[in-house]
Amino acid sequence: MTLTIEIVERATDEVRDALNSLVPQLSSRAVAIDNAKLASIIENPSLTLLVARESGAILGTLTLAVFPIPSGEIAMIEDVVVDESARGLGAGEALVTAAIAHAASLGAREVDLTSRPLRKAANALYQKIGFVQRETNVYRFFIES
Ligand SMILES: CC(C)(COP(=O)(O)OP(=O)(O)OC[C@H]1O[C@@H](n2cnc3c(N)ncnc32)[C@H](O)[C@@H]1OP(=O)(O)O)[C@@H](O)C(=O)NCCC(=O)NCCS
Repeated sequence: MTLTIEIVERATDEVRDALNSLVPQLSSRAVAIDNAKLASIIENPSLTLLVARESGAILGTLTLAVFPIPSGEIAMIEDVVVDESARGLGAGEALVTAAIAHAASLGAREVDLTSRPLRKAANALYQKIGFVQRETNVYRFFIES
């Protein structure tokens, strides 16, 4: 097994197709992305798109957001997903660990993420890595379109 984690630097059809296969496994509401949207993510200086590869094939991804606010630096991990056929092999842990290291290299002192309690594997993964639960209320405002 040759699992590697890499930062996506270019918007290629391969990465677009991989994301369009992976992200629906995370959210049934996911909208397919095109190369322009992928490029806008890659070029956004606050975002780092990571992929996990096994024998060259992309089998997982996450997105790290790191940006400044007046009180410091926010670092957040989003859209963590590993292909159903490749779970349990360490890709999720390798992705999150790499994202933490990258956030640290950018000056972040803490990394946040959220995960619904129903996501048993994800919650176990984050706790294994060392994430601790914060006492805070998570709110969402739905903007009608
Ligand atoms: C969560 C997810 C990314 C984990 O990826 P993965 O590559 O399968 O995880 P890993 O193989 O790196 O597992 C690392 C650790 O996570 C935990 N874990 C992984 N799968 C688990 C499962 N099915 N049940 C319980 N714990 C699990 C374990 O602690 C494991 O460590 P161990 O192997 O020493 O027991 C993957 O299951 C997934 O994509 N799920 C669907 C999407 C999702 O829920 N994403 C998270 C959104 S917040």
